[in-house]
Amino acid sequence: MNRPFDFAAADRKRVEALRSELRRHNELYYNLAAPEILDDRYDALMEELRGLEEAHPEWSDPESPTRRVGATPEAAAKRGAFSAFRHTVPMLSIANTYSADEVRKFVGRMEGALRDAGNAEPARFVVELKIDGLAFTAFYRGGKFVRGATRGDGVAGEDVTRNLAAVGGFPGRLAPPHPEGELEVRGEVYMPSPAFAALVAEQEEDGAGRVFANPRNAAAGSLKLLDAGIVATRGLECFFYQIIDPGGAGALTQSEALARLERWRLPVNPVRRVCGSVGDILRFRDEVDAGRRALPYAIDGLVIKLDSFAHQAILGLGSRSPNWAVAYKFAPDRAETRVAGIRVQVGKLGRLTPVADLDPVPLSGSTITHASLHNESYIAEKDVRVGDRVVVEKAGEIIPQIAGVVAGGRDGSQAPFAMPRTCPSCGAESSTTETRQDGRTVVLRFCPNPACPAKQLARIVHFASRNAMDIEGMGPAVVAWLLRRGAVRDAADIYSLTPAQLLPLTKEGRDIAAVGDGEPTKMVDNLLRAIESSKGRGLAKLLFALSIPDIGETAAQLLAKRFGSMRVLRDAAAADISAAAMGESTAYRTLGGKSAAVLANALASLKPEQRVIGRDPGALAALLAGLRLSGFGRKRCEAVANRFGALDDLLAADATELAMVEMGASRVRRTLGPVAAGSLRRFLDDPGNR
Ligand code: IVH
Repeated sequence: MNRPFDFAAADRKRVEALRSELRRHNELYYNLAAPEILDDRYDALMEELRGLEEAHPEWSDPESPTRRVGATPEAAAKRGAFSAFRHTVPMLSIANTYSADEVRKFVGRMEGALRDAGNAEPARFVVELKIDGLAFTAFYRGGKFVRGATRGDGVAGEDVTRNLAAVGGFPGRLAPPHPEGELEVRGEVYMPSPAFAALVAEQEEDGAGRVFANPRNAAAGSLKLLDAGIVATRGLECFFYQIIDPGGAGALTQSEALARLERWRLPVNPVRRVCGSVGDILRFRDEVDAGRRALPYAIDGLVIKLDSFAHQAILGLGSRSPNWAVAYKFAPDRAETRVAGIRVQVGKLGRLTPVADLDPVPLSGSTITHASLHNESYIAEKDVRVGDRVVVEKAGEIIPQIAGVVAGGRDGSQAPFAMPRTCPSCGAESSTTETRQDGRTVVLRFCPNPACPAKQLARIVHFASRNAMDIEGMGPAVVAWLLRRGAVRDAADIYSLTPAQLLPLTKEGRDIAAVGDGEPTKMVDNLLRAIESSKGRGLAKLLFALSIPDIGETAAQLLAKRFGSMRVLRDAAAADISAAAMGESTAYRTLGGKSAAVLANALASLKPEQRVIGRDPGALAALLAGLRLSGFGRKRCEAVANRFGALDDLLAADATELAMVEMGASRVRRTLGPVAAGSLRRFLDDPGNR
């Protein structure tokens, strides 16, 4: 007779198999920086395990990957599992307006409402810049930064304390005099334009995955990186614009609140104005619009707020946004042109990027001749074809991109673009990787040929470029010529170039602008001298120049500082490289949720006779120590006792207050992290590179 199938035993086996497989992928991903599967596959395995564990609570295991996300605390972050953070006060958004007329209506509405409420004072507005970034909220206790979170859905966001601390200019402390208790302030994290342009250029070339479409996405993506060390290299900055309890800070108006924030030395955008009329607001708008392209960060409009908090209270809040504020958005600059052709560019790491050549068209102060099409999925989605009329705009006012194809502009001659399967430079069969971007699967193509001429060209040009080895006169045209002649194959060959090899360049290269004209021997001399002086640029420049995936300028600088010489670095273990310090920030250890729960439980079941103690911290510490709570050594008991002083005050504290009890501050090192370290280790271990 057939025995019935033992479903439970099969499930049990599957649970064990899933747990061990997920552990292996965690290790691969987080500690070895060498993932074997994509995120969606990982998520599917995790989902399956979670389902089985829910069906069989008897098999629960605190060590299961479903409970211990990833291999490190940062791992939790990467898997979209920053711990959730419920906002004390919801983080609302702001209603948008797009025209002077709508602004006029808004102002009229404010004045009407204030009049109806019997308010005699005229309405005044403070007008601020609307920074194109990501909103955050930050908590300071006793003047020290203790916690920070993203906006999320407005009700709950994600705890990004460590990453916020890595944002440039994010103050770990408030300048005194500051509130002694808890202070919640909010603002915007953004990526300055130069950092955004550099990041996009790097992403386009290296092709590790996504290319950010605008500075907002770049800021959001960067703030949610798994590794605070890498966050620190992204060049993020912040502005503060809101105090949650401004009354407590003695501010009666938004403009006073901004001044208060400044006095605590929190960065506040200096471009703002108090306006008494629609006319004032529109004049300020025109001034800002005229000057905004010169700002080192992107803004997408203005925020107009009633200045007086008393007036704000009269208007109140809607469900999604306050009634006392509106955003006045700028229309992005746009222009129409034609796609003259689509070519495929080969990056220094072999990424194949389609680029649209455009009929030149002026747009916000420059002439646009081309726009990146990023990848074939992007082209398919926008359905961009050669010959199409397209609308171009500038992402974050910097990088031109195609907003869309003009409808009805086709005459039947425009064929869909097919991404070539082979490298346009060397003809090698391209390899593909899939990556997830904004919930979609995107196909990226790479040329796998290490000897691909286009790749070599891009790498050598990068090597000689200004921020790298800075070899004057060695631009793309000269490098291409040297490659064609077989005078160089890689960057190292630059250093054995002879005058005899270079002399023909001055004759053949008449049309190479970079060579310039002048005495041939003099030009050769200059180039050789530039090559010679590049030897003195130092380790940081060299590491950056070598086109190592994930090693940008900042990482290169820090590695040079930490290891001093290539020899030491070459012998360093991946773990030591990963741990290399990116700088320091202050970490404030707190009691934490688990201990807070232990403490709250114990307090709830205190016997009446235990409650009769003296009103001093010493007695309270002794009482706590006497409870012998798990995890509560002398230090913890004293920290809690010192924070609350008397038992009554401790009993009145809620769970959050307990969890936030400070256990002392320590300076923590930010590190390079495993991804970049793994990439560097692989580069250094490659015999050719050595
Ligand atoms: S005030 C309740 N001020 O715009 C109003 N927001 O669309 C709280 N933003 O979520 C926000 N610059 O991310 C305010 N000067 C500024 C801002 C600003 C940018 C962002 C913020 C907010 C979004 C609203």
